[in-house]
Amino acid sequence: MHRFVPFIAVAASLLVLPGLGDPARAAGPADGPRRVSRMDFGKTPGGTPVELYTLSNGRITAKVMTYGAILTELDVPDRNGKPGDVVLGFDSLEGYLAGHPYFGATVGRVANRIGGAKFSLDGKDYQLAVNNGPNTLHGGNKGFDKVVWKAEDVSGPAGPAVKFTYRSPDGEEGYPGNLDVAVTYTVTDQDELKIDYKATTDKATPVVLTNHSYFNLAGPASGTILDHEVTLAASKYTPGDAGMIPTGAIESVKGTPLDFTTPTPIGARIKEIKADPVGYDHNFVIDPGARPAARVRDPRSGRVMEVSTTEPGVQFYTGNFLDGKVKGKGGVAYQQHQAFCLETQHFPDSVHHANFPSTILRPGQTYTQTTIYKFGVDSVPGLDRR
Ligand code: GLA
Repeated sequence: MHRFVPFIAVAASLLVLPGLGDPARAAGPADGPRRVSRMDFGKTPGGTPVELYTLSNGRITAKVMTYGAILTELDVPDRNGKPGDVVLGFDSLEGYLAGHPYFGATVGRVANRIGGAKFSLDGKDYQLAVNNGPNTLHGGNKGFDKVVWKAEDVSGPAGPAVKFTYRSPDGEEGYPGNLDVAVTYTVTDQDELKIDYKATTDKATPVVLTNHSYFNLAGPASGTILDHEVTLAASKYTPGDAGMIPTGAIESVKGTPLDFTTPTPIGARIKEIKADPVGYDHNFVIDPGARPAARVRDPRSGRVMEVSTTEPGVQFYTGNFLDGKVKGKGGVAYQQHQAFCLETQHFPDSVHHANFPSTILRPGQTYTQTTIYKFGVDSVPGLDRR
């Protein structure tokens, strides 16, 4: 297993190894230029202005916008200290407005699928948008990824931070209750992108919020992620039917291509998955208490990402539906398997499975979710030769 070298250790090495990276960027925790800046990012067709916020701790820079509370860019140093973007997306708002498969988006009110696009709660039946075969996916036709959020700079001791808020009205996309949602992005001094979610409601409703970033740790224009090495602290998964609705079973990954309990290249067994289009698109059950839940290493750039979450599950998706039709940053056509997603979540279709952890939020309760993406490198060239 490769090491996880935090950038702070790289910074320390620079004191004895001049010439490696840029010492000004790789400074210690409190020394970097920590900041939040704001710019106008265009308007929706309805004329609502959209803002883009840039959060930086001097080493890691995240860009997030009020449309969809979307993460548009995430710059992270590679093993030579050179920063580069690691997420798919577009250069301008127009790309996002034209339609896309949830690049960087905040997904809700209920992320993932609900079978038959309906559910019953407290004796009442609710009909949701049918937008994925006979099912509902990722909040419906106009989910949280397509609304304009309010933003506020909430930077504090943890680092530069922006909080997005949105009130989802009673009945929106078929869901009951006015839901007040807050999503806070923080770039911490520990080189983490931390996303905290909160929600309260005035009627009982299911709530599952996640972020749908498409990562390519070698850079969004650098081909497939099949060589990325993945470790998932997940000995079980929730098998689904042809429409990816869970059967309700919770099965072992042992002896299947879903066993990522030891570091394995994504491409090693991907062709063994019986799915069209081929690839991973499965909900893994995170081993209780596992921190991190997932770890991904890109052998080319040396970047390592560790994902920790309060959620019981994670949808590991390998961009199977990308087919070259969407042209992203720099006009690059995004091809199948050009990115992976780790959507931390409650299990799909939980409203229909009493044996899955409940996704129901009631008045007086507060929904919370925290997911942390921590960045480092697998080695430092000069250091490792000593
Ligand atoms: C999720 C789903 C996939 C796909 C993508 C968006 O990851 O599980 O099946 O719908 O979103 O394209």
